[in-house]
Amino acid sequence: MYSEKVLKHFKEPKNVGEMKDADGMGTVGNPVCGDMMSMYIKVKDDTIENISFKTFGCGAAIATSSMTTELAKGKTLDEAMDITRQDVANALDGLPPVKMHCSNLAADALHEAIKNYKENKEK
Ligand code: FES
Repeated sequence: MYSEKVLKHFKEPKNVGEMKDADGMGTVGNPVCGDMMSMYIKVKDDTIENISFKTFGCGAAIATSSMTTELAKGKTLDEAMDITRQDVANALDGLPPVKMHCSNLAADALHEAIKNYKENKEK
């Protein structure tokens, strides 16, 4: 049911944990299941230098978050803003249709973290 890549990212997720000195942070809730996700980014020269996540989501949410952090690391803020839920699902070789809503959390939280960083910068 799950691809090898989903299982791998679920069993050994990358970039897990809260980032105390984050430059931007985004938290979103999933309206479908009520689970929560936070993404933290560290930015240098408009590029995501470091990224981590914390979630109260299911296995698919953990795998998609892990993959999202891998996709976003090293990207410019504009490039990271263009990462879609579908990109994340594709990078994982697909998700079961019933679990597609779980991939919303990671991409949305990433986008919120970028917006938060931009707001912080303007202050
Ligand atoms: Fe809630 Fe997957 S069931 S994030």
